[in-house]
Amino acid sequence: RRVTISVIKADIGSIAGHHKVHPDTMAAAARVLAEAKRKGTIIDYYVTHVGDDLQLIMTHRKGVDSSDIHGLAWEAFKKAAEVAKELGLYAAGQDLLSDAFSGNVRGLGPGVAEMEIVERRSEPIVVFMADKTEPGAFNLPLFKIFADPFNTAGLVIDPRMHDGFKFEVLDLYEGKYVVLNSPEEMYDLLALIGTPSRYVIKRVYRKSDDEIAAVVSSERLNLIAGRYVGKDDPVAIVRAQSGFPALGEILEPFSFPHLVAGWMRGSHWGPLMPVGLRDAKCTRFDGPPRIIGLGFNITKGRLIGPVDLFDDPAFDETRRLAQQIADYMRRHGPFMPHRLGPEEMEYTTLPQVLEKLKNRFTDAEYYTKYVHVKLRGVVKEAESEAHD
Ligand code: 13P
Ligand code: 13P
Ligand code: MG
Ligand code: MG
Ligand code: MG
Repeated sequence: RRVTISVIKADIGSIAGHHKVHPDTMAAAARVLAEAKRKGTIIDYYVTHVGDDLQLIMTHRKGVDSSDIHGLAWEAFKKAAEVAKELGLYAAGQDLLSDAFSGNVRGLGPGVAEMEIVERRSEPIVVFMADKTEPGAFNLPLFKIFADPFNTAGLVIDPRMHDGFKFEVLDLYEGKYVVLNSPEEMYDLLALIGTPSRYVIKRVYRKSDDEIAAVVSSERLNLIAGRYVGKDDPVAIVRAQSGFPALGEILEPFSFPHLVAGWMRGSHWGPLMPVGLRDAKCTRFDGPPRIIGLGFNITKGRLIGPVDLFDDPAFDETRRLAQQIADYMRRHGPFMPHRLGPEEMEYTTLPQVLEKLKNRFTDAEYYTKYVHVKLRGVVKEAESEAHD
């Protein structure tokens, strides 16, 4: 029997800055989903948050891109945003970019990761949710999970995984997809996904039978809105065990707090810190970027769980290293490479600064001939005066 897992998220406003979702807004969203569950639109749901992003995890029989399910999520976000407005929360309604819902939330603002599967006898999944970063943040960990034998022992020793996986890569600038096979085309794959601001892993399939293994939300709010509205804090769904990577192989890459784009004002590189739900909030320099991982079993469509996978001393050293990296990066202040390159910044004053200074820029020849000479002359005059 086919079941669809839909993770749809949006920032509908947060308490005391871009810090954390308010519980009353989560309750408002949960009420909408509880009613939908009662009516049978969805089988089950779990509402949570990471930082200022409200997360709706839903199971149902309607397939991916269902207008019923997307409409339901939209309704839940609207209700949550109403509460956010009433409470005067910061950036209430941030990611709800249009008032007219038209059947599909893609392109409207919320982020979406969905997969339709035939439930295995036991169907373990992990839902990853991150704040203060972008979809490309999943490139490195997904590569390690599904293509790196030093991470995933099963690629070498599990016959069902030994053929490898296929990576569907989305070019965010062109809106085009390419599918690359691993291990054969691993270097081509890395050539693309090493630029995570442009090429993002959208889906992963098991090569032997084309079973879907993982999916990532890849909305780019900055491109959608045509202006800054927040980095598109991403989510991913990954299937575990029995021909897919083991749970521990899926969590393993997150023991390395790799640098991701986002953090303060969506314009800085910082370490991705795995945390439990209790630390799923952003503080220092609006971060550091955080990720939570919730484990479930899907059983007859029901969500059994969650278990809070990063709430564990096994990730303490990762968090400590992330803090050290945060210290190190922060000391660069406004300098690259802590600050993102100009084309990737979500906030910038550069056009205004350049406009203001435009008449004060002189070309090099004129500058050396006249301005520089004049400045040197002034210095000489000052020197000779001093000698007198
Ligand atoms: P079990 O033998 O406990 O099922 O574990 C298999 C596995 O995948 C461990 O990584
Ligand atoms: P969010 O995208 O999480 O709302 O963060 C925006 C921001 O500017 C943080 O400094
Ligand atoms: Mg926000
Ligand atoms: Mg956010
Ligand atoms: Mg954001």
